[in-house]
Amino acid sequence: MTATIIDGKAVARSLREKIAEEVKTLKQNGIVPGLAVVLVGQDPASHSYVKGKIKACEEVGIHSEVLYLAEETSQAELLQTIEQLNKKTNIHGILVQLPLPPHISEEAVLEVIPAEKDVDGFHPLNVGNLAIGRDTYLPCTPHGIVELIKWTGTDLNGKHVVVVGRSNIVGKPVSLLLLQENATVTMCHSRTRDLPALTRQADILVVAVGKPQLIGKEHVSPGAIVIDVGVNRLESGKLVGDVRFDEVAEVASYITPVPGGVGPMTITMLLANTVKAAKAQAAAASK
Ligand code: GUN
Repeated sequence: MTATIIDGKAVARSLREKIAEEVKTLKQNGIVPGLAVVLVGQDPASHSYVKGKIKACEEVGIHSEVLYLAEETSQAELLQTIEQLNKKTNIHGILVQLPLPPHISEEAVLEVIPAEKDVDGFHPLNVGNLAIGRDTYLPCTPHGIVELIKWTGTDLNGKHVVVVGRSNIVGKPVSLLLLQENATVTMCHSRTRDLPALTRQADILVVAVGKPQLIGKEHVSPGAIVIDVGVNRLESGKLVGDVRFDEVAEVASYITPVPGGVGPMTITMLLANTVKAAKAQAAAASK
């Protein structure tokens, strides 16, 4: 079997068209959704991700501001910057690009972004709301993954999803989200014994570990859907996922490519969260 490639760019484009329409309507009502992105330091990958986020905002009509802070910025200065942004009524979403330099506590930073402007969905309150199934700002990559699975026409009800990776950004929240969609979820990680025996049980396999080409066809049962969240740059400069694309595509029914799979969806869900935040804050202000 040759898998159908899940074209994340195309799915993202169609969602962004809908978001652009929504922004247009909001603007007619005097609401301009606004996103502030804070970037500390010079990490080239982070600069590239932030550029992508800003370009996407422009394309759908969301106002955006980027604050570039020096690597040496202290934690106190960063917290102060976030507090200033929080006071701005034209900024509905605040995002601090991760990773942060080692002298800054990510935990402290993520807690100071108010939950109602937390368009990344990383604030403990929003994570807690996700865990207990309340409406919240969903973390962008997990939300994008679920949208891609739905795009294949698959009903998640009762499906066995195996998630490889237990990060706070992807593995844990995507498991919670899939559970809410009534999937049966198995989480695997670096200490899991006999990984292939578990991943072969998956109707849907989500891989988010950041280990280049870890998953091969021996991990995948024929007809499974494979979502590759990994973005790894090889020494040759080539960008690859956590999945050996060519061989897994021979057995899977659907597979996401890297690049062009999950990546474009992450940014799209950020745009959706910013619009959601703008609407919620406008509603709260008019009360
Ligand atoms: N670094 C890698 N992924 C993300 C993300 O989704 N949000 C933020 N803020 N930083 C990241």
